[in-house]
Amino acid sequence: MRIGGSENAMEGWIDVGPADLMEGELRGLEVGERLVLLARHLGRITAMDDSCNHAGCLLSGGWMQDKKGAVVCPCHEYAFELGSGRNVTFPRLCDDQPVFEVRVERGRVMIRLPE
Ligand code: FES
Repeated sequence: MRIGGSENAMEGWIDVGPADLMEGELRGLEVGERLVLLARHLGRITAMDDSCNHAGCLLSGGWMQDKKGAVVCPCHEYAFELGSGRNVTFPRLCDDQPVFEVRVERGRVMIRLPE
């Protein structure tokens, strides 16, 4: 889904759509030039870079690993913890995944991307 995003320039928060993710859902978005993965796990919505830092596959095409609270990349099955982006795969053959701040406001998901 491509998002133009309405941005609150004062604070840098971008509206990326309704907070209607189902439990366990992975949703890939294009926000400007950036690929963003939204996920809902145990009711909490998180956001991270959708492009896996190992070899660029889209994490939104992967699956949720409930026990670890992580998303698993479909290409080489590395797992990244939702919320922190920590690589929870052993051995760790790639970096942690960048994550973004998220808040839900009036039923909308707002994210803040790094400069
Ligand atoms: S591209 Fe994601 S684990 Fe290799």
